[in-house]
Amino acid sequence: MIERPIHLEFAHRVVFTRGAFTPGNEVLGDVLSRAPGGGPHRVLALVDGGVIGGNQTLLRDISQWFSARDGELELVASPQVFPGGEACKNDWSLVPEIWSVINEHGIDRHSFVLAIGGGAFLDLVGFAAATAHRGIRLVRMPTTSLSQGDGGVGVKSGVNFFGKKNWVGSFAVPFGVVNDFAFLRSLPQRARRAGIIEAIKVALIRDREFYVDLEATAGALRALEEEALERAIRRSAELHVDHIATSGDPYELGSARPLDFGHWVAHKLEQVSAFRVGHGEAVAIGMAVDLVYSRRIGLMSGDDCERVLRLVEAVGFDTYDPDLDRREGALPVILRGLEEFREHLGGDLTITLVPEIGRKVEVNEMDRAEVLGALAELRERQAPAVAP
Ligand SMILES: NC(=O)c1ccc[n+]([C@@H]2O[C@H](COP(=O)([O-])OP(=O)(O)OC[C@H]3O[C@@H](n4cnc5c(N)ncnc54)[C@H](O)[C@@H]3O)[C@@H](O)[C@H]2O)c1
Ligand SMILES: [Zn+2]
Repeated sequence: MIERPIHLEFAHRVVFTRGAFTPGNEVLGDVLSRAPGGGPHRVLALVDGGVIGGNQTLLRDISQWFSARDGELELVASPQVFPGGEACKNDWSLVPEIWSVINEHGIDRHSFVLAIGGGAFLDLVGFAAATAHRGIRLVRMPTTSLSQGDGGVGVKSGVNFFGKKNWVGSFAVPFGVVNDFAFLRSLPQRARRAGIIEAIKVALIRDREFYVDLEATAGALRALEEEALERAIRRSAELHVDHIATSGDPYELGSARPLDFGHWVAHKLEQVSAFRVGHGEAVAIGMAVDLVYSRRIGLMSGDDCERVLRLVEAVGFDTYDPDLDRREGALPVILRGLEEFREHLGGDLTITLVPEIGRKVEVNEMDRAEVLGALAELRERQAPAVAP
């Protein structure tokens, strides 16, 4: 046996700005200039079609911003627009379409793909970029609260296949991530709220102080006030990046996936509801299921459980959806999420639970009857029985 260790080192860069394409904003230029070798660095910009409506000058601003840096940076074509939203991850034909654009413009491993859009679009483009030429440098510009605080700052990409979330995908550290808060302004309320739940999630598993901070600003978060929202996203992004960089398992080779607290239900619920329930909404419900479950099995105190459910509700999320109870035979389909979660990770079933705010544990078994009990409790909580 010839065995040699292979060490690779990556820098994971996440920067925050407002108005990345306004003249004089050097944040993106600074990220791109970290690439070794002389310029001009070649860049292909791909934009989520959903972003354009609320940002009418975006495509022109991108072109002008690059023109002003002629000689250092070369935008190889006018920004290319593709559909975004979960539907783009369900449409395989978009993968070869993006490969075609990459191929047509001669984008190689020394060039950049700049992806501007929501988490779904970034997952699609990230996957296409990771597989073209075995991996092209990717700069992500997440445009939703959820992707700025969570998905967009991670190292994963992928699209849905066989009716399963993220079945095909890759791990790759992006060259850089530019979180531009100005994009959040054009988001519909629902999408603006979504990022708050991932902030609560990461606070629950890693940072009690941040959790307390989120509680203190719950009113402002519910009202989607800019300052509170940006603060929550910034800390959420930082905690996600810290976890990825320091947990010792950035590419999830083990069976544990603590950043996916509440996600075994969430992924299945999104799919069962045909994506009517968005990712953030599904995570709120998924966490609620796991919290009530934890209380029922004596892992979490009743006080802590109630405290977290109240925060989730206070910032504007439901903790139950009727599709949780959709049945196939005697059992809710949602239970199949457990097996799919295990299958996706490989190895033993590993579910992250939260015994107390700010701390996580991994369990390898979930008692189906107690999960059903948690579902029933949440159903009642959402629709309290009318007094006779
Ligand atoms: N790769 C990861 O590690 C990771 C982590 C968490 C979530 N995700 C994935 O992210 C996806 C969810 O991402 P999301 O919550 O960002 O939603 P999304 O990407 O589905 O976007 C929601 C909608 O908003 C539009 N949009 C995006 N930015 C906009 C803006 N600034 N103004 C107006 N409209 C805008 C999009 O076109 C889309 O129609 C899911 O597929 C989820 O699985 C991935
Ligand atoms: Zn998530």
